[in-house]
This record gives sequence, C-alpha cells and structure tokens, in this order.
Amino acid sequence: MLIDVPQQAPPYPGPLPGVVEGEIPTLDQIRRELGDCRRCKLCTGRKNLVFGVGNPRAELVFVGEGPGEQEDLQGVPFVGPAGELLTKMIQAMGFTRDQVYICNVVKCRPPGNRNPEPDEIAACEPFLRAQLVALQPKVIVALGKFAAQTLLRDSTPITRLRGNWREYQGVKLMPTFHPAYLLRSPHEKKKAWDDLQQVMKIFGKQPGSRS
Ligand code: URA
Repeated sequence: MLIDVPQQAPPYPGPLPGVVEGEIPTLDQIRRELGDCRRCKLCTGRKNLVFGVGNPRAELVFVGEGPGEQEDLQGVPFVGPAGELLTKMIQAMGFTRDQVYICNVVKCRPPGNRNPEPDEIAACEPFLRAQLVALQPKVIVALGKFAAQTLLRDSTPITRLRGNWREYQGVKLMPTFHPAYLLRSPHEKKKAWDDLQQVMKIFGKQPGSRS
C-alpha cells in the first residue's frame, strides 16, 4: 500500500526562536521548538517524544518511520527489536550508533504501532527536514517506505525504490527496507545488505572493517 504523499513539502518551521533569520538552527534549537508538541493527535497517546539520537555532526543519518513501544517508553529511536537489528546493521557497516544519527519521520508513537497518517506526517515532517538541514550529512539511509516516500515525494513502492541512489536536497539518499520488515521477512536481508554496502563504499568501508 502506498502512502498519501503530498507533492509540496510542508513549510520549513523556521524562523525558530533564538535563530537569526538565514542561520541554520542547531538540533537543540529544533528540539526546543518542538517543545511539548501538540501539533497532531499523536501527542495524546505518547509517553515520550522521540526526537533523535547520535552524533550531531554525523555524516551518515538513518531515518525510520516512527517510534514503537520501547522507543516511546525510553524516548530514544530504534531501541526495540527493530532497533536491535538496526544496531547490528550499523555495526556491520563499520560504524557505531554514536557515530551516526538516527531519527524518524514522526516523533511520537502511533497507537498500537499503526502506520502514521498523512496529517501526522505533515505536522512532523518540517522538523525532520530541519534536522537534516542541521546535520548536513553525506548520506541519508531511508528505512522503509514512509521515510523514502516522504523525503523523496515519490510514491514508488519501496521494493522498487530500494537499492537505487537518489538525492534529497543535494544529499545522497539510499532507500532500503525497514528493519521491522526484515525481522518479518529475513529472506530480504541480503537485499538490504547489498544496499548498505553501496553506502559503505561512499565511506570507504569494507565489510568487516570497524573503523
Ligand atoms: N521503527 C521505527 O521506524 N522507528 C523507531 O524508532 C523504532 C521502530
């Protein structure tokens, strides 16, 4: 099933308080602007807003869909079962979680882990875009259809998007399968690993290297 991809990117949230017009806001400023966010209905069920984690100067950023139960409880992205697999994928690529940055399209848990709805994505996406402006990574890995279709404004199924380099605001973007999907469909792991190896090449990493 495709998501409803609005053709226009929602407006950038700035200028943010404390940010001079024309200056790039920091991750801290973006987090402060989100505050105790009430911009969409996901706020009613969340325990914690899950902003993002990792190196604010990361060259490699992973974007997922939205927090699950564990992420909602801990306020940290990708710490549940899918997170364990993502952590292994990051390590297999020769990185640690501390070296990269990890965030989601929506910052609050959709009830019962349902898919995020278009109004929720529209409310949250400007903050994801702002995070990516602040981070200015070398490569973005879009995990699953929500991340890929939202950032690329492209409703092509993830099965066809994955493995093909795209560009997001001048940054190389690699769409691949979401780790939760890989847990359900382990036979697809090989394809995801092929995608990640393309990313590793950009960083001069070989499978097995850990620098
Ligand atoms: N799935 C996601 O897309 N993001 C998380 O943070 C956890 C699971």
